[in-house]
Amino acid sequence: MAFENVNEFDFEDRMMTPEYSPEADAEVENPLRPKVLGEYIGQEKVKENLAVFIEAARQRKESLDHVLLYGPPGLGKTTLAGIIANELGVNLRITSGPAIEKPGDLAALLTNLNPGDVLFIDEIHRLARSVEEILYPAMEDFAIDIITGKGQMAASYHLPLPRFTLVGATTRAGQLTAPLRDRFGVVLRLEMYNPKELAQIVTRSAGILGIPIEADGALELASRSRGTPRIANRLLKRVRDFAQIMSNGVITYATAKLALDRLEIDELGLDANDRRILFTMIQYYNGGPVGLDTLAAAVGEESVTIEDVYEPYLMQIGFLSRTPRGRCATRSAYLHLGLTPPGESSPDQTKLY
Ligand code: ADE
Repeated sequence: MAFENVNEFDFEDRMMTPEYSPEADAEVENPLRPKVLGEYIGQEKVKENLAVFIEAARQRKESLDHVLLYGPPGLGKTTLAGIIANELGVNLRITSGPAIEKPGDLAALLTNLNPGDVLFIDEIHRLARSVEEILYPAMEDFAIDIITGKGQMAASYHLPLPRFTLVGATTRAGQLTAPLRDRFGVVLRLEMYNPKELAQIVTRSAGILGIPIEADGALELASRSRGTPRIANRLLKRVRDFAQIMSNGVITYATAKLALDRLEIDELGLDANDRRILFTMIQYYNGGPVGLDTLAAAVGEESVTIEDVYEPYLMQIGFLSRTPRGRCATRSAYLHLGLTPPGESSPDQTKLY
């Protein structure tokens, strides 16, 4: 069982191997993560296809082809990697693009795998080019060629590897180089969840954590979670605090609404940062178009944070559009913020005529 295996590493082993990351471990050991496909809610197309690929590989007693998971953060890419390993009955090794600094780090990881194991590389678009070049023959031929030393001392080693499954995750498939992208046999795009699916996830999580929650409380929480289970589960814990201190501990519609209002998360799930981004676009740049870097500087965020974290949901609900000349706030964004869209007269002005 992959999850048990992750827990079984001895501590020193974890500290010495380049894949060790306390954050990644904490995430995998999170009791809210489903461990089998049957427990995983939503992403129906992804689940149906994965189930076929996993079962087919299992029947043939082969390793599963390499899998690329892409989509906005918080939608369950690490969870799916854990499920894949678990369903295949193999170990899961977790690392991330930026954690693998040198080709030797990756070589150490690969040579320590057992046949069939799943190697999960999060943020795979951030792999160094020198590391990525080792990965190509590893993925394709299950072998690596390493050169040590320089000049007359140089030596080349051809190391065969066990057949393994690489599960790569990225928020930006477009940033992968073509040779890397082409080496994944299975490419799956994760979509944002609808409120009904998120309500099921929240209800399941509440059950695991022993939090009493009513159906309309779960739906209210789900509706304000920006289509993202990670946010829904985080809000669940905060709403529980309000329910515990301000009422009888049960998350009802009323306690969910009160708590989320207090957390400044509006009915569409926008938080203070989302609103600040939209306000900045509208007030300083007439609603756009404004370049990504200019917008990022104006709101004091990194461009990649705007692109990866804020934009996907704002685009999904139709509040922000990307044009070749920059980002624009849409009419719906103006109306949601209580502002008058350009070219339309405000209610007060209408009264004058
Ligand atoms: N927790 C986080 N994501 C989940 C999902 N898709 N299904 C069930 N529980 C989850």
